[in-house]
Amino acid sequence: MITAIFPAAGKGRRMGTPFNKVFASLSDKPVLLHTLLSFSRCAFIDDFVVVVAPQEVTMVSKLLNTIPEIKPCKVVAGGIERQYSVYNGLMAVSKDSDMVLIHDAARPLISVKVINAVIDEVKQSEAAVAAVPVTNTIKVIDENNLVVRTPDRSNLWMMQTPQGFKKELLLRAYEQARQDNFLGTDDASLIEHIGHPVKIVMGDYKNIKITSPGDLVYAEAMLGKKAVDRVKADLSITVTNAVELMKTKILGKRL
Ligand code: CTP
Ligand code: MG
Repeated sequence: MITAIFPAAGKGRRMGTPFNKVFASLSDKPVLLHTLLSFSRCAFIDDFVVVVAPQEVTMVSKLLNTIPEIKPCKVVAGGIERQYSVYNGLMAVSKDSDMVLIHDAARPLISVKVINAVIDEVKQSEAAVAAVPVTNTIKVIDENNLVVRTPDRSNLWMMQTPQGFKKELLLRAYEQARQDNFLGTDDASLIEHIGHPVKIVMGDYKNIKITSPGDLVYAEAMLGKKAVDRVKADLSITVTNAVELMKTKILGKRL
């Protein structure tokens, strides 16, 4: 069994909204729903654990229970750091699961292709993360803002999510991090901390983390582009089956 954990218990400070940014409206629904619906389209994932702030647990579980397209879902309370939220999520994963994918709820543009690529690689390597090559030159600087050096860009990749792991390995890494008071900036760094290799899988530049208001504008544009692509595809069908297609689309469309 494969379970996906969605940390969604942040405060969204950089977004500047008075509420958690995963509830911000994107096109026709909240960011969190885009993310969960995208993962629900992956046939290999069995269930979800969504981690939200303690005061949001009841509201979110009620909301998710009304949406049949979303896979079976537990909603649990998170902690003050993302790592603590993921740990709480991990504690709620079914004992029957042997693989866990962790995905930021704030990355709504994730594709099934990238999810499947991570799952395939976890089967081989036990730990796999989606990532993309760095496109800008990165400089290491000192406390006076002076450039110290320029690392070779060809070795630098930007980590994304999903990050996928064999459950036993992830549990071991999270327990060790707790014992050592080790706080990593992503889940893979906890695996690195226990000396286990982590494999990179090609992610997608579109798979951005919604962090500040401009990211919502970008995501809207990407979703708009998808709608345009759909219309273009529709134009290539014959008039005879167009009416049937429209009927199924309209009747089958729930959200
Ligand atoms: N997250 C979480 N628990 C926390 C902090 C973050 O579950 N204590 C989640 C966020 O909800 C988000 C993901 O981890 O889906 C990535 O974190 P980030 O983009 O930093 O979100 P926030 O912490 O909410 O934003 P900010 O840092 O701007 O406050
Ligand atoms: Mg944060």
